[in-house]
Amino acid sequence: MGGAVVDTHSSSLIAMMRAVCPGSFDPVTYGHIDVIERAARVFGEVIVAVSPNLGKQPLFSVEERIDMLREVTSHIQNVRTDAFDGLLIDYVRSREANVIVKGLRAVSDFEFELQMALMNRNLAPEVETVFMMTGADYSYLSSSIVKEIAALGGRVDSLVPRVVAIKLEEKLRKLQEVKNK
Ligand code: PNS
Repeated sequence: MGGAVVDTHSSSLIAMMRAVCPGSFDPVTYGHIDVIERAARVFGEVIVAVSPNLGKQPLFSVEERIDMLREVTSHIQNVRTDAFDGLLIDYVRSREANVIVKGLRAVSDFEFELQMALMNRNLAPEVETVFMMTGADYSYLSSSIVKEIAALGGRVDSLVPRVVAIKLEEKLRKLQEVKNK
């Protein structure tokens, strides 16, 4: 085997790395928080980056999503929240980050995530994508399911933090009022 010398002090190297954890976070769930906490234990700094994700019709504005994320991650010192437009990889470079962290819930996530990871590697070979397994308790959880349950009057207390559950209720009530007019 030829080539690169591997730094065996990899734990200190990782602690110096800045990771970007991108997503729609519409809204943030306990599954997202689980992945953010895991990333924050491994990397020196984690930037949670909210994408407007124009392909989806969001319930919350980017600002609302950022506010909720800031509140529910305030207990994690090395995490900050931001938003980005355009290509993820351009944002990662602009923040001089080394790693993209994505959560994987189940095999069903893998194919699409693999496609994105390989495309991002093609665009920026110096940036690694790292997958973290979501805790088993959250493997069935998604923002879409949470929104559907809340919209149909179900309880979401065990799926999202209280502040998010309250914002969901308020938002859905306002939408209903507009519809009823
Ligand atoms: O929470 P989501 O909706 O699964 O997040 C998807 C997201 C925002 C991470 C992904 O759509 C993305 O990276 N969007 C930015 C645009 C981009 O870079 N697209 C090319 C990806 S290969």
